[in-house]
Amino acid sequence: MCGIVGYIGHREAYPIVIKGLKRLEYRGYDSAGVMLYDDESGIKVCKTKGKVSDLEAKSQEGFSISGNIGIGHTRWATHGVPNDVNSHPHVSNSGDLVIIHNGIIENYAPLKEELIKRGYAFKSDTDTEVLVNLIEEVQKNENIKLGKAVQIALNQVVGAYAIAVFDKKNPNEIVAARLGSPLAIGVGEGEYFIASDASPFIEYTSNAVYLEDGEMANIRLHKPLKIRKIKDDSLVDPYIQELQMNLEQIEKGGYDHFMLKEIYEQPSVIKDTYRGRLHANEGIVQMAGVEDNLEKFLNAKRILIVACGTSWHAGLVAEYIFEEFTRIPVEVEYASEFRYRNPIINKDDVVIAISQSGETADTMAAIKLAKENGAFVFGVCNVVGSSISRESHAGAYTHAGPEIGVASTKAFTTQITVLTMIALRLGKAKGTLSNPDFHAYLQELELIPEKVSEALETNDRAKEIAAAFKDAPNCLYLGRGYNFPVALEGALKLKEISYIHAEGYPAAEMKHGPIALIDEHMPVIVIAPKQGHYDKIVSNIQEIKSRSGKIIAVVTKGDTQVRELADYVIEIPETSDALSPLITTIPLQLLSYYIAVMRGCNVDQPRNLAKSVTVE
Ligand code: AGP
Ligand code: GLU
Repeated sequence: MCGIVGYIGHREAYPIVIKGLKRLEYRGYDSAGVMLYDDESGIKVCKTKGKVSDLEAKSQEGFSISGNIGIGHTRWATHGVPNDVNSHPHVSNSGDLVIIHNGIIENYAPLKEELIKRGYAFKSDTDTEVLVNLIEEVQKNENIKLGKAVQIALNQVVGAYAIAVFDKKNPNEIVAARLGSPLAIGVGEGEYFIASDASPFIEYTSNAVYLEDGEMANIRLHKPLKIRKIKDDSLVDPYIQELQMNLEQIEKGGYDHFMLKEIYEQPSVIKDTYRGRLHANEGIVQMAGVEDNLEKFLNAKRILIVACGTSWHAGLVAEYIFEEFTRIPVEVEYASEFRYRNPIINKDDVVIAISQSGETADTMAAIKLAKENGAFVFGVCNVVGSSISRESHAGAYTHAGPEIGVASTKAFTTQITVLTMIALRLGKAKGTLSNPDFHAYLQELELIPEKVSEALETNDRAKEIAAAFKDAPNCLYLGRGYNFPVALEGALKLKEISYIHAEGYPAAEMKHGPIALIDEHMPVIVIAPKQGHYDKIVSNIQEIKSRSGKIIAVVTKGDTQVRELADYVIEIPETSDALSPLITTIPLQLLSYYIAVMRGCNVDQPRNLAKSVTVE
């Protein structure tokens, strides 16, 4: 996965490409590169290991940045270590073709072998350099234009890609194609933009065409877009849509990091998530995707939830909520396991896929499998128009706005909000949730944004605790019931941005193993709100205390019992047990954030990670 940007038009391409790459850097950031073209100097390529800022610095050393055509890439290496040579763009052997690529060419090895036999030489270890030379070979053999050569070559390729290819023999054109990785084309006045998402061109145009899987585009100066199917070359009518995103949404807005901004956005985005769907006073909760398919949900013998990472944790919270409210059995699966283990999928199963990006390769493959087996697939995605949202039969967007920080925060709470609303709607329709409970939950859900704001007031406390534990090598997170997945999520947040080893456990499970880890150096974060198994968790805290563990407890305001036992308490507002994950998770996000900042980690772009995992 990576970020790709392209420009063809009347402006200088370099600043557009660089700024665009910075916005896409969340997708990959181990190396970056740019190609510019102008009639005088032809193709110019500058690339380097490191960040887009390193590329900018390098391009100041004698690289001419002029040209109205440019493509750029920020990489997340799959084939070949991150270094200057493996960085994109890659140039073909003749020097005519230049490519940027997001994804993986799975059959690159036999293709490379064949090309070597035909006299091609390779500078890099990437699969991408194989693809650009394959296109060149096809073009030479058939004596055809770039578009046709790309189409033929891609039919020989197995894998996933979003590519942009440039041919200096016909420099008024960029050819783009996608399969499994996203690609948007911005359509301006006498100019086109290409990017992995629309953020690089949002200030230039609000008209965009999202290529569908298996489509390619000839993007030519002063000519209409031509979109074709890669498989059979048949023409497709371009569907130009108006973008909803604005620039402010994708900039940091005064916060030090996107992650902090996104943590603080939660009260307003949770409201955005339920706006127009939840009317507590009228006793209504509705979502078009659910209403249109109500019978499918109500007749479901089982709900299967597939997701990865944080979205999988939201799925676990949903499992507790769905079973409680609707009495429909729920199974939550890692999409990566589900897709390869020959799962039992029935026609009367409802499969819910949860994905912030809507581009996660494993989740995408899981829903394809579910569809092949006749299940009804419902997507809960954040990115509008994303692959998973399009592949699903129906769905509900979370409306959290762009999430740029690699560590997911607002996506988690808005996913839980959507899933809770679905469970409430079904619980009411099935009669498994009593009328008073239904109404009480609606009222309570409506109050959540306010309570999240209150929970954000734990910011200073989180900072203080972070200062005390920032050097801990390990950390344990414990929770019970609805807050067990929150413990998992708390641990994931800490490990991914601070590189501290952390584990989440159901609190009662501790004595079956992890308790052996506890000594006076081990911080144990216990989620212990007043509602739900409180007495049990107090006993668990006693067990930690007896072994000298350092206890940091997340408790309901006014709690006295845990306060006596814990080394630190973080107080949060009271809510019902089922909705508590929306609140308890807030101080854990802040704690991870401050620990990471104090350790000098790159919070928004943690090492080895990327925002959308479009490779399996
Ligand atoms: C969360 O902080 C992660 N970086 C990661 O686990 C993420 O949740 C996972 O990759 C799933 O992404 P998705 O929601 O876009 O499908
Ligand atoms: N497979 C390509 C590489 O390793 C592209 C990876 C990416 O999507 O950044 O260079």
